[in-house]
Amino acid sequence: MKTQAISATPPEQLQQVTFDSAMEARIEELLQRYPTKRAALLPVLWLCQERYGWISQGVIEAVARRLGESPAFVEGVVSFYTMFFRQPPAKYVLQLCVTLSCELCGAQRLAQRIKEKLGIGFGEKTADGVFQLVGVECLGACGGAPVLQVNQDYYEHMSEEALDQLLEELAKEQ
Ligand code: FES
Repeated sequence: MKTQAISATPPEQLQQVTFDSAMEARIEELLQRYPTKRAALLPVLWLCQERYGWISQGVIEAVARRLGESPAFVEGVVSFYTMFFRQPPAKYVLQLCVTLSCELCGAQRLAQRIKEKLGIGFGEKTADGVFQLVGVECLGACGGAPVLQVNQDYYEHMSEEALDQLLEELAKEQ
């Protein structure tokens, strides 16, 4: 499996956001599928994150204008979900599940290994911007514990050896 790296738009380009015609068309398509604009908020945000790599204040304001909501309401939704990034993310975001099944199956050992290999703990990013570690709640794949999500991909039954190999492969993609 080849995990796609995240390409984050620089903050200075996302201060004021106007959706181009391609984004407008995709938003319009999403709106057709929901009974109200508010109901389409999560997929519209997800679309924005796919396009820009993260959700800046400018993106929040653009989404709020487009859906007829207040920026505060949109921000409240964005801040509730760990899947939305409020800062430009690393190329590879390591989301390590720290809920019970994964904890019992070695999540902390994996966190320790990441610390040894990359020098980062939870909430931290490597200086070169390639890796970032986030602790997340249950990823809904408890049968594969311990689970590590990297960008869009799940890696289940992770051992320290498999983690070493994965990190090396991802680093080579640079
Ligand atoms: S507890 Fe880790 S995936 Fe559910």
